[in-house]
Amino acid sequence: MAWKTLDDLDLAGKTVLTRVDINVPMEAGRVTDMTRIERIIPTLRDIVAKGGRPVLLAHFDRPKGKVVPEMSLAPLAAPLAEALGSPVVFCNETIGPKAAAAVAALPNRATLLLENTRFHAGEESNDAGFADALAALGDIYCNDAFSAAHRAHASTEALAHRLPSCAGRLMQSELSALEAALSAPERPVIAVVGGAKVSTKLDLLGNLIDKVDMIVIGGGMANTFLAAQGINVGKSLCEHDLADTARAIMARAAQQNCDLILPTDVVVAREFRAHAANETVPATACPEDAMILDAGPMSVARIEGAFARAKTLVWNGPLGAFELEPFNMATNAAARAAAQLTREGKLLSVAGGGDTVAALNAAGVAEDFTYVSSAGGAFLEWMEGKTLPGVAALNN
Ligand code: 3PG
Ligand code: MG
Repeated sequence: MAWKTLDDLDLAGKTVLTRVDINVPMEAGRVTDMTRIERIIPTLRDIVAKGGRPVLLAHFDRPKGKVVPEMSLAPLAAPLAEALGSPVVFCNETIGPKAAAAVAALPNRATLLLENTRFHAGEESNDAGFADALAALGDIYCNDAFSAAHRAHASTEALAHRLPSCAGRLMQSELSALEAALSAPERPVIAVVGGAKVSTKLDLLGNLIDKVDMIVIGGGMANTFLAAQGINVGKSLCEHDLADTARAIMARAAQQNCDLILPTDVVVAREFRAHAANETVPATACPEDAMILDAGPMSVARIEGAFARAKTLVWNGPLGAFELEPFNMATNAAARAAAQLTREGKLLSVAGGGDTVAALNAAGVAEDFTYVSSAGGAFLEWMEGKTLPGVAALNN
């Protein structure tokens, strides 16, 4: 890897501006999923252990360059301190004299959390002046926010050009997991690409066709592929205007020897709600007044067979309407099969993307995957083969 890590820089007595992603789900002022907070702890502990003083830069939600009190990072100081097992001081400014004073006053072994970087318009515009003001607060820049690395913002990009920089531990583990899965994987490689719409996954499919040996297409987007083959999908979610695109993808996949695995049987219902009356029919026999909400058991068996032949799996997106029972059956069954093969040491499995992680957690198998990314958009962009500005900036 071309970038430095915390082991390559002398942190003793240094203020380490550490970009983290603690954009966590919250309800009524309480964190409902601690994953992103827990995952930055090794970095913060290592900085302190090496004599550094961690000063955290982070965004929360999308305040669009204005101070939005509900989007303050203040409520995150306590859960962070609890996870860390050491004090976290919060400063309600991000830059300027008050932030500088808070840095100077930071007690030994404590961590400073500065206010939401996105309260300043200069954050999202990657503004040089705002980046200079951030850089003035510290000696070293550590980026541990892989999940925000697809944004070229001042705290994820410009800052890396202003201070000696390194990747944090979470950034390191995200990048090594993704490299193992896509850059130099053990073959055959299988990808699961699910979700509602093909239109949001065109770049992903385009990149994967060149890199992987099999692609399981699931969720609403599978309907578009079925319809493009002249199959009637009734009232199913389907992007009929993308039929040509879907046919072009199928043709290119055939050319590249990439197997596209579409459902052969489907679970259909008349209503889009949990426990709606449903039946399983061949994928070619969706009734006119019904919609496809999940892949059927034959399809799942085929997917499981493909997993068993593969050595590497990358997974993005559910196979059905997993948020509605029982239309989570295909996703759960396939996820359990992947988890089992991983436990047996037969498969390296990497998953990412918001819905995906929620689906794997619901199936109770996230722990068994080789790696589950903390990233949504950044994971997708990496899988699309795009350069992530936050990662590229560390390579200087
Ligand atoms: C995320 O939650 O995916 C990251 O924190 C990035 O947030 P954003 O999509 O608002 O840039
Ligand atoms: Mg997001």
